[in-house]
Amino acid sequence: EQIEKGGYEHFMLKEIFEQPNAIKDTYRGRLLSKEAIIKMAGVEDNMKMFLNANRIIIVACGTSWHAGLVAEYIFEDLARIPVEVEYASEFRYRNPVINKNDIVIAISQSGETADTLAAIKLAKSQGAFVFGVCNVVGSSIARETNAGAYTHAGPEIGVASTKAFTTQITVLTLIALRLARAKGTMSSSDFRRHLIELEMIPDKVTQALKSDSYVKTVAEIYKDAKNFLYLGRGYNFPVALEGALKLKEISYIHAEGYPAAEMKHGPIALIDENMPIVVIATNKGHYEKIVSNIEEIKARKGKIIGIVTKGDKSVKKLADHVIEVPETIESLTPLLTTIPLQLLSYYIAVMLDKNVDQPRNLAKSVTVE
Ligand code: G6P
Repeated sequence: EQIEKGGYEHFMLKEIFEQPNAIKDTYRGRLLSKEAIIKMAGVEDNMKMFLNANRIIIVACGTSWHAGLVAEYIFEDLARIPVEVEYASEFRYRNPVINKNDIVIAISQSGETADTLAAIKLAKSQGAFVFGVCNVVGSSIARETNAGAYTHAGPEIGVASTKAFTTQITVLTLIALRLARAKGTMSSSDFRRHLIELEMIPDKVTQALKSDSYVKTVAEIYKDAKNFLYLGRGYNFPVALEGALKLKEISYIHAEGYPAAEMKHGPIALIDENMPIVVIATNKGHYEKIVSNIEEIKARKGKIIGIVTKGDKSVKKLADHVIEVPETIESLTPLLTTIPLQLLSYYIAVMLDKNVDQPRNLAKSVTVE
């Protein structure tokens, strides 16, 4: 097992650090920047179906559901296709309305999650075309879906999902970009710019991973907090949810993720000098708004950990700590802002002496409902 961990203390840390290569493996052979094209067999073979889609329904559980939420922003923003994101466990029992020309995308790392599998079977029984985004090759979900695309993240052993999440977002970005081009919702120059930016992501993830030792310092300061709040807007709202989930899963500290603007409708009542609040505040998308959210937190003496774009000034003035990530285009920011949140939960759990790779009560793949 020590050899499998490749010199890292835990699988989770190894998998966090594998992300630059995992993301590269995800787009290798699919993103052809010289030709300025994206090639994905599962999408090409069903292009007509995708182009006729009135709606995409995403079904998933856990971290994969969070990747689905990011995909909602990506598909609507880039390809202008309406998206709904559903917990598979709710969808399957709700007698959902599935129309002709709806496409269901099922996201699952393991490809074995019972609720997701059941949601797929239900959708198929109502005539839907189901596309799978799985990591495990040949898994039940990969076999049950009509077509799909693998994430190629390599085996993920740590129960808390890390590289599966970022590679799911990568695959979904590729699909959205391909459809955006096919539908003409994106200009060729904008498309090219996205391809170039996506190819720069692995190096930028490597940069983001350099915050490692600083994140450790922040973890040391807040490891005894009883509650955490995670806030983000737009593309980074799902990242806030995922950051909170990571902390809950492995450190057993209660954490809530919230869209920053919704803070005033509830969570703001919880804020005092004992509440650490992680705010994702990159310079793209609603930056001014998030700065004013941070001011509101500051006025209530909350402790602010800002995830900011390199060189940021405004948040730095207000926050107790800032963790920098490189700059990229808005739709790709989740691939970078997720990194320090993974590290933060990892170090807090290690400092609290928790079983990071196999947290209590959780399973890597939930094959019962
Ligand atoms: C379990 C795992 C999570 C995972 C979820 C969905 O709860 O502990 O890490 O996100 O199942 O799993 P899937 O394999 O379908 O992505």
